[in-house]
Formats: sequence, C-alpha cells, structure tokens
Amino acid sequence: MSNKNLSAAKNAKNDEFYTQYADIQKEINAYLDYDPDVFRGKTVLLPCDDPEWSNFTRFFAQNFEMLGLKKLISTSYAPDAKKEKYGILFEYAAERNGGRPQNERGKIFVLDHDTNASGRIDFDDLEWEYLDGDGDFRSEEVCKLRDEADVIVTNPPFSLFREFLAWILDGKNCLAQRRRGAEVGSRVSRDHDGNGLAAKSAKDAKKFLIIGNMNAITYKEVFPLIMQNRLWLGNGFNAGNALFGLPKNVSSKDYAKGVFDAETGLVKFRNCCWLTNLEHGRRHQPLQLMTERENVKFSKHKEVRGIGYRHYDNYDGIEVPFTDAIPSDYDGVMGVPISFLDKYCPDQFEILGMTDRGNEYGIKIREYTEEDTPNANDLNRRGAIRVDGILKSTYARILIRARRSK
Ligand SMILES: C[S@@+](CC[C@H](N)C(=O)[O-])C[C@H]1O[C@@H](n2cnc3c(N)ncnc32)[C@H](O)[C@@H]1O
Repeated sequence: MSNKNLSAAKNAKNDEFYTQYADIQKEINAYLDYDPDVFRGKTVLLPCDDPEWSNFTRFFAQNFEMLGLKKLISTSYAPDAKKEKYGILFEYAAERNGGRPQNERGKIFVLDHDTNASGRIDFDDLEWEYLDGDGDFRSEEVCKLRDEADVIVTNPPFSLFREFLAWILDGKNCLAQRRRGAEVGSRVSRDHDGNGLAAKSAKDAKKFLIIGNMNAITYKEVFPLIMQNRLWLGNGFNAGNALFGLPKNVSSKDYAKGVFDAETGLVKFRNCCWLTNLEHGRRHQPLQLMTERENVKFSKHKEVRGIGYRHYDNYDGIEVPFTDAIPSDYDGVMGVPISFLDKYCPDQFEILGMTDRGNEYGIKIREYTEEDTPNANDLNRRGAIRVDGILKSTYARILIRARRSK
C-alpha cells in the first residue's frame, strides 16, 4: 500500500477493506508447503472477521479438515462500533433476533464439530452467538479467546496496527487490564524486556499471521522483533500489490485515482505485506549474489557498475543501494534497502540495526552538529555518504552482515 493511500485510509478512519480468498489461500499454502502439519490440532482465532464478509473465516472454515484444525474461532466488531458505517449485511443477526440485529454487539463464530451431520466439518457447521460487548479485540472476552488460541490470523484495522501487534505478542492492551491500572502496569513492565516487548523466545511465542504495510517494519515496536528473529515477512502478495474488497455501498471518493476500480469494486494498495512468525520456505532460500569485483564489472545498476560501493561517513559500513547488488564476499557491515527484508534469509545474513536518528542499535560512529554541516539533522537520521566532497543522506537502510560458517 502506498503511504499516501494508507494514510488516506487512516485519516478517513476507514478500516473496512476485505482480503481476497485467493490471497489468503496462496499465503497459507506457503506455510503448508513448509510444514503440512502447521495448523494440525491447533485453535485458530480470527479476531477481526465476520463470515458475512470475511474470507478469512470462509477459508479456514471451508478447509477445516484439510488443515486438521481443532477449533476455529472468529469474532467480529459490532456495526455500531465501526468508525465508518457502510451498510453491512445482517442476515446472521436478523435470523437470530427475529429480524432485529443487535448492532451494538460483536459476534463470535465457532467451528469445532459437524453440527449438521453432513459427514464433514465445514463452513455450514459454524455456530454463532452475540458477544457480551462490541467485539473490540482489546475487550476482556476477546483477550480470553486470544489466550486460548494457538494461532492468530487476520487483516487487522490499519489504524490500530501497533496496538494490535502488541496485543498479540505480549498480551498487552486489554481494556480491562488498562482499567486495573498501576498494579497491572508494574506487572506488565516486569514481564517485558527493555523494548517493552515480552521476553518470550520465538519458539514459545503465540503464532500469528497478519497483514500490514511495509512501513510497519521500521516501527520501533516491530524492527527489534525482526532483528531477534521473532517476526518476519510472510510469503507475500504479488510484488507487494494487494487488492481488497470494500463494503457494498462504498464510494470511490475516499481513494486516490487508480486505487479504486469501479468494475471489480476492489481497491489496489501497494506495499502490503504479511507479517508472521510461522516458518515458510522462501525465508530459507539464500540470495544468489555476485562478488564485489563482479558487481563493479557487471552490475546492471549504473550506481555500482564501474564505481563500487561508498563507505558511510557516520557508520562503519558500505552503502549498497540495491538488494541484488549486495556483494557476496564482503565481510563488513552493509546498508541495504528496507525491501531487502522480503528476501532476507537469516542463515545468510544477520541484521545489526537500522540507520536512525539516535543510536538505538549502538552502531553509529558519528553524530553531526549544525557546526559540522547545515544538513546535520537530515544526516543524523540516515546513512551519510560523500558525493563529490559533499555529505549526502541516503534512504533509510537496514544494516546487515554476512554470516560465514566458521
Ligand atoms: C482491514 S479490515 C479487515 C477485515 C477482515 N479481517 C478481512 O481481511 O477481510 C479490519 C476490520 O477490523 C474491524 N475493527 C476495527 N477496529 C476494531 C477493533 N477495535 N476490534 C476489532 N475489530 C476492529 C473493522 O471494522 C474491520 O472490519
């Protein structure tokens, strides 16, 4: 999703766009290819999903037996609680409530047995109830479901992305916990490491698979998890382009030209990714790279061919402007584009940090002042390279180093 479109969605407080069935299927297949039993015997929670419009519920319910699930739980947010009212259908509610939906309450859908004696467990066996509250993922009742679940999967509300991730990872952000206040606060802080993140190992952590924006990678709540191998990019949308469905009576007015397609009723967002801690094969395929000499001689990038790599002035490392130009035989620190993470194989490289304003990762060697250079502020946020004698700031970079077998 482009920044422009994501922030448009945020500004409009529009969290209503729906993931396509084929995208969910393609993503899940990548985890099944790696481990066919990844979901076997597991309880899966879909916490922002209602089968009236969510393909997540449809997909997991329809494939319940193939995945070997123990239980599927899907909860939905009350229509009255939604920031945008887009004329959602209420067949389920109407059926249950004599035609009067209780729009102030969320719903819970559960699938764990063959309710209609058809001989198989599928979508038609889903049972539903109203929740006590509005289905907010931070409510005490949905937090309990989170604690029961082995795997959490969804496309969460983009406007609450940070909070949603924290909610999954360390059980923070339950509204009831917040109300309990200081006593809980002190317990929570004892449970967390210096980054405010739960100090659990990747193995013990609750499994999750959620959709987000590539920019989320640079969030201070997310990047340390990537460094610690507790979160990584999933298999992904085609070239980062994702098409989402919209509620029936949505108009194109909230979207920039070219984003909303009136014919299909879908919106196209660039820069979308899946974030997960489930293993998949692509993450273990090392990049095929040329040596430094080969790059200087043959690189398809004019910025590298015949020139080589510039050393940063403020980091002890070299600037590598393209992922496919990473020199395979370089042993020092390399600054690479953020999009490298889509190709990141942890067996091949270690991540040391990111270029940043402070020195959060402890790898910066120089901080500029206004006396050094008028663009000190800019340079301190990024890697600084010298071009024709003048210090210039690069794009945001991830700092990596090759792993070498001893
Ligand atoms: C981006 S949409 C995705 C819906 C669905 N997961 C899908 O991909 O098709 C996010 C959904 O989360 C719901 N939502 C917004 N705030 C929420 C909250 N605090 N708790 C639970 N759900 C929320 C929105 O109403 C919306 O339906």
